Amino acid sequence: MDYFEYKDRRLFAEQVALSDIAEQVGTPCFVYSRATLERHWKAFNSAFGDYPHQICYAVKANGNLAILNLLARLGSGFDVVSAGELMRVIEAGGDPAQTIFSGVCKQNWEIRNALEAGVHCFNIESEGELQRISAIAGESGARPRISVRINPDVDAKTHPYISTGLRENKFGLSPDKALEIYKQAAQDNNIQIHGVACHIGSQLTELSPFKDALNRALYFVDQLERIGIEISQLDFGGGLGVRYRDEHPPSADEYGQMLLDQLKPRTRQIPVVIEPGRAIVANAGILLTRVHYIKHGEASNFCIVDAGMNDLIRPALYQAYQDIVEVDKTGNAEPAIYAEPTIYAESTIYDVVGPVCESSDFLGKQRRLHVAEDDLLAVRTAGAYGAAMSSNYNSRPRPAEVMVDGDKFQVIKPRETLQSLYRGEQILP
Ligand code: LLP
Repeated sequence: MDYFEYKDRRLFAEQVALSDIAEQVGTPCFVYSRATLERHWKAFNSAFGDYPHQICYAVKANGNLAILNLLARLGSGFDVVSAGELMRVIEAGGDPAQTIFSGVCKQNWEIRNALEAGVHCFNIESEGELQRISAIAGESGARPRISVRINPDVDAKTHPYISTGLRENKFGLSPDKALEIYKQAAQDNNIQIHGVACHIGSQLTELSPFKDALNRALYFVDQLERIGIEISQLDFGGGLGVRYRDEHPPSADEYGQMLLDQLKPRTRQIPVVIEPGRAIVANAGILLTRVHYIKHGEASNFCIVDAGMNDLIRPALYQAYQDIVEVDKTGNAEPAIYAEPTIYAESTIYDVVGPVCESSDFLGKQRRLHVAEDDLLAVRTAGAYGAAMSSNYNSRPRPAEVMVDGDKFQVIKPRETLQSLYRGEQILP
C-alpha cells in the first residue's frame, strides 16, 4: 500500500502532482512519500504487539538523512554495515544504542568508531572478527555486546545475488562453527554474548524459507542453552519482499505472526530484532524521469529517458522488473472499446533506456506506453536500493531527492553539481 495514486489521470505523491515536482526540481529525481514510509514502519512495529521487539531499519536500502530522521522519530533502531552508515544514523538523530553493526568486513577503525559511538551490538561473521573486536575492546575498556550470525543453509528462493543464507554464501557461520565461537566468546571478558543473528536474503516473497531459517535459529538457541549460554536477543535480519510486478509477498502482520507463533510458546521470551529495509522504503519512492527521445529501431522501439543505470541499477544488475508508468495519462487512449483513436495517442511497446553508454542501461524492456518526447515517466518501487546504489558513472550527477508530506514537498538532497563530480581530484605538477 502506498500513496502514489492517479487523480484525474495525473499521478500524485500524496497531494502533490509529480509534474509539479519535475517542473520545480527537474529530472531525474527520486520522490518519496512520508506517509507511506511511516505506514510501513508502523506496520512492522505493530505486528509484534507487546512482545519485546525492536525494528532496526536497514540503512543500506536508503540512507538519506531525512528518511533516517523520520524513522528515528518513530522510535526505530538501525542496522548498519559501515562506519559511513553509522555516521548517517548519528547525523540524522538516530540512537547508536539502538543500532546494530552488521557486515562481513568491519575494519579496525570502523570497530573503534562503533565502540566509541556505543552501538547496541556487533553481529559477528567470522572467528577473526571476534578476535579483532575483542582485542580492540580490550584496549578501550568497553565491553561490547556481540551476536554471531549463523548461516542456516536455507534457500531463500530469490535472485542469487541477494540470497545470503546458503552454505556457499560468504555470510555468517555454520551452526557448528558458530557454536565453537560462542564457546570462545564465553571465556572472553572483553565482550558480552548478547544474541544470535540470522539473515537469509532479500526480496523473499514466501514465508516458508523464513520459517525454516527460524526453526534452525531456534534449534541453535536451544543448543546454546544446553551449554549454559542464554541469549537476550534473536536478530532475524531483513528480507521481506515487496510487490514490483505481480508478487504477493506476505504482509508485515503475517511475517510478524510467523515469528510470534514460534517465539511466544517458548518458556523464556527472547526479545526479537528485525532489520527490514526494502519493505519499509521501496514502495515509498519513485524515480521521476523525462522522455528526451523516441527512437524507432529495426528490432525495437526505444524510449530514451534522462534516468539511467547509474541512478537505478537494479534492472541492469539483477534483471529486476520495476513498473514504469506515465505521469500524465490525460491524453492517452482508453481501452479499445472507449478509444477515439483520432484524438488520443497510440500506445507502443518500448525498451525504456537511459543515457549511459552501455547496452545494460535500461530501466525496463518491452513496456507498453503512451509517450511522446518531453513526457514524464515514473519508475515505481524505487525507494529502496535506488539512490543508495546510484553512482556517477559517465560523470552524471546523482539525482535530486524529494520528500512529499501531504500537500507539501521538500528537497532532501539537491541534485549534484558538475563541479562536485571531480572534487578532490588532483592534476600532477
Ligand atoms: N540485514 C542484513 C544483514 C542484510 O544483509 C540486509 C540486506 C538487510 C538486513 C535488509 O534486507 P531487506 O529487508 O532490504 O531485504 N541491492 C539488492 C538488495 C541487497 C540486500 C542486501 N542485504 C536489491 O536491490 O535487490
